[in-house]
Amino acid sequence: MPYILAIESSCDDTSAAIIENNKILANVIANQKMHENFGGVVPELASRAHQQNIIPVVDTALKIAKIKKEQLDAIAFTRGPGLLGSLLVGSSFAKSFSLALNIPLIEVDHLEAHILSHFIKDDNQQKVPEFPFLCLLVSGGHTQIVLMQSHFEMEIIGKTIDDAAGEAFDKAAKIMSIPYPGGPLIDKFSKEGNPYAFKFNEPNIPGLNFSFSGLKTSILYFLRDELKKDAEFIEKNKFDLCASIQEVIVSILMKKLIKASQQTGINQIAIAGGVSANSGLRKALTDAALKYNWHAFIPKFEYSTDNAAMIAIAAYYKYLNNDFASQSATPYARSIF
Ligand code: KG4
Ligand code: ZN
Repeated sequence: MPYILAIESSCDDTSAAIIENNKILANVIANQKMHENFGGVVPELASRAHQQNIIPVVDTALKIAKIKKEQLDAIAFTRGPGLLGSLLVGSSFAKSFSLALNIPLIEVDHLEAHILSHFIKDDNQQKVPEFPFLCLLVSGGHTQIVLMQSHFEMEIIGKTIDDAAGEAFDKAAKIMSIPYPGGPLIDKFSKEGNPYAFKFNEPNIPGLNFSFSGLKTSILYFLRDELKKDAEFIEKNKFDLCASIQEVIVSILMKKLIKASQQTGINQIAIAGGVSANSGLRKALTDAALKYNWHAFIPKFEYSTDNAAMIAIAAYYKYLNNDFASQSATPYARSIF
């Protein structure tokens, strides 16, 4: 007790998870491949695909968890931030299910959920962060350093003033004609390349804030000049370019995270969000943990990018707090923090 069904549909993945207390029984994700051809997520296509995927995904999750829908104690959904059309599919489904089964509804914030994914207990030995801890939340839409005082008390102490880290990866990939989403492919190609082959300047932003738009422009101009000299420059240097771009993005992120730890005196440090799947960032965090004596928390791959398991764990803590949503809870597109 309790069994909670969670739905995540904020962007282009339709996901359903079942949780029993803090243990995930099923986490099913249907990816939408068609956006690759457009170089980014097409909102109209995304919401239509969610409508097609949601029932099979929920059905599969229930089968994997080996529970009947009548056994559910609550149903949770991502309320925002995200694409409104996509969020509407998940929230309408959850509301109808809650009415039909006469069980409570729980709304979850997508960003909070990314951070709370660290509290999923897949095995009993696993350590979870202690409060207060810092979390570098890096996704396609957000890049922030969050100070977590408790499960639902979060303070953003640094954030990007323009692009998110995931966007920096995806936009750099697009410039090199690497298909969307470029982040995972840049990560893959980086493994074959030299991270110090090309040097891109890091922005000089005060405090704990980030900026990535200048990097995108400097990559664009650098490649434009090189392509004038050699039309095959990108093809010939793809691995080194990817490794060098990944190196600078990870370096920008890590410098601010180290600064945040020094300023707050907090040494429980987590990363979360799609970019936390990046092997360069994972290694940099592990290295920094050794150097600075941090307790570092890196999410499993399946909980890094968008998934409903993270919505389920956030919902579990809300359930314990009797924090339920009303049928009139409407989705929000932009972050509420
Ligand atoms: O959290 P997420 O799945 O969706 C959002 O909430 O935005 O994050 C998606 C972002 C995309 O920009 C994607 O390119 C990036 O995470 N990403 C990666 C990797 N895997 C996903 N970036 C770098 N390296 C990766 N391995
Ligand atoms: Zn996300």
